[in-house]
Amino acid sequence: MKEINIVTKTTIFDAIDELPQAAQKVMNEAIKAKETAYAPYSKFKVGAALLLENGKIITGNNQENAAYPSGMCAERVAVWKAASTYPNVKIKMLAISASSATQQLTEPVAPCGACRQTLSEYEIVQKNNIEVYFMGETGKVVKTNAVLDLLPLAFDKSFL
Ligand code: THU
Repeated sequence: MKEINIVTKTTIFDAIDELPQAAQKVMNEAIKAKETAYAPYSKFKVGAALLLENGKIITGNNQENAAYPSGMCAERVAVWKAASTYPNVKIKMLAISASSATQQLTEPVAPCGACRQTLSEYEIVQKNNIEVYFMGETGKVVKTNAVLDLLPLAFDKSFL
C-alpha cells in the first residue's frame, strides 16, 4: 500500500486586470458571451471563450431547456463549436465567467465535472495543455495550467 499526494498548481489573481494581456482579452470575450446565454430557468448565465492557436476566439454560453437535462453548459457549447469548426486547430486557453440574477457572484465559478471530462478529451488528443481561467462576475480569477489539473485520475482513451 502507498499513498500519493496529487498537487495542483493554481494561481489566484485578485482581479481581471491582473491577468496577462492575452488572458484578459479571452476573459472579456467570455464575459460578453454571457449576455446571450439562454438561462431562463436557473437565471445563472455562464460564458466561455476559447483561444485557438490560429488566434481565433470561439465563445459559447449555457443553453437551457424546459426538459432540464437537455440543456448544455457554456464550456461544452464553446468547445464543440471550436472542435466542429476547426477540428485540427489546437486550443490554447479557456476563460469562464458566470453571473446570477439572484446573487452577486464574487467568488470564482469552476467548470463542472462533465465539462472537465469533455475538455480533457481535446487536451489529451492535441498533446498540449489548455490554460484555464475562471471567475464569477467580479473579483478573483483562478488559473490552472491545464484541464487535467482540474481532473486528477481522469478516465481517458487509454482505458478503452
Ligand atoms: N453551467 C455551465 O454553463 N457551466 C458549468 O460549468 C456549470 C453550470 C450552467 C448549466 C445551467 O444552465 C446553469 O449553469 C446552472 O447550473
